[in-house]
Amino acid sequence: MILHNKIAILTGASRGLGAAIASALTGKGAIVYGIARDIDSLNKLRNELGNVFRPVQIDITNVLAVTQWMKETFTEKYCPDILINNAGIGSFSKIDETPATTWIEMMNTNLNGLFYITSQVAALMKKRKESSHIVNIGSILGQVGRTAAAAYCTSKFGVQGFSEALYIELRSFNIKVTCLNPGSIETDFFKSSGIQPHENMLHPADIANTIVHVLETPDNMLINELTIRPLQPKALHQ
Ligand SMILES: NC(=O)c1ccc[n+]([C@@H]2O[C@H](COP(=O)([O-])OP(=O)(O)OC[C@H]3O[C@@H](n4cnc5c(N)ncnc54)[C@H](OP(=O)(O)O)[C@@H]3O)[C@@H](O)[C@H]2O)c1
Repeated sequence: MILHNKIAILTGASRGLGAAIASALTGKGAIVYGIARDIDSLNKLRNELGNVFRPVQIDITNVLAVTQWMKETFTEKYCPDILINNAGIGSFSKIDETPATTWIEMMNTNLNGLFYITSQVAALMKKRKESSHIVNIGSILGQVGRTAAAAYCTSKFGVQGFSEALYIELRSFNIKVTCLNPGSIETDFFKSSGIQPHENMLHPADIANTIVHVLETPDNMLINELTIRPLQPKALHQ
């Protein structure tokens, strides 16, 4: 896909990996609708990236808000070419110390929110002849387990399963689906998640550039799954 003038929806655009993806996509000439709850951060990003970045204040767990925005913004003639499901939260605790509210919030964001927007975008993409692409940001913890991570692993194994089923369902509609599973990335995720960062984390811009590469592959070539790790992870506090 040639990214110039393509329309992308990007969730979790306000910071971290999402902000880096927004920068990489607009740098390639795409128009990016960047979704998050923190409108101040989104507006700051628009000041940096220009009007090709369109801030959208939505909580993706709110199905009515997602539905209303989709209806107001897109039609069969003005349809997103790209959806990047990047918004996600992580909180790490032992199973008997995990409050039900934490579990539910993680499933609502990482799985239900993913479903609400993808189901609506896919309905529009299916009506087009041109190639479209959905990229889901999973995690290495969607492939392997980790102690004190049952909730996050459950949600990210879910992203993996969702992506696997979706690529098979949507490939005949000329819609690519990619699940990108990164290891630790240098973002604010570590401040709120309760797990320790290490010295050699992946850089958000490098992951964003990889996503650009995946999007730019020829129409008849699908990278349906990609795992990206730091080469030499080493805990700061070992
Ligand atoms: N950092 C890592 O080591 C790592 C590793 C593997 C996978 N990942 C995955 O990569 C993705 C991005 O993570 P990150 O590291 O960039 O984390 P981050 O810095 O904490 O950013 C998370 C983004 O998600 C948005 N978000 C969260 N809940 C939302 C909601 N209900 N509605 C709309 N937006 C919401 C946040 O925006 P607002 O708060 O403004 O809403 C923010 O823009 C996540 O899916 C994460 O699970 C991260």
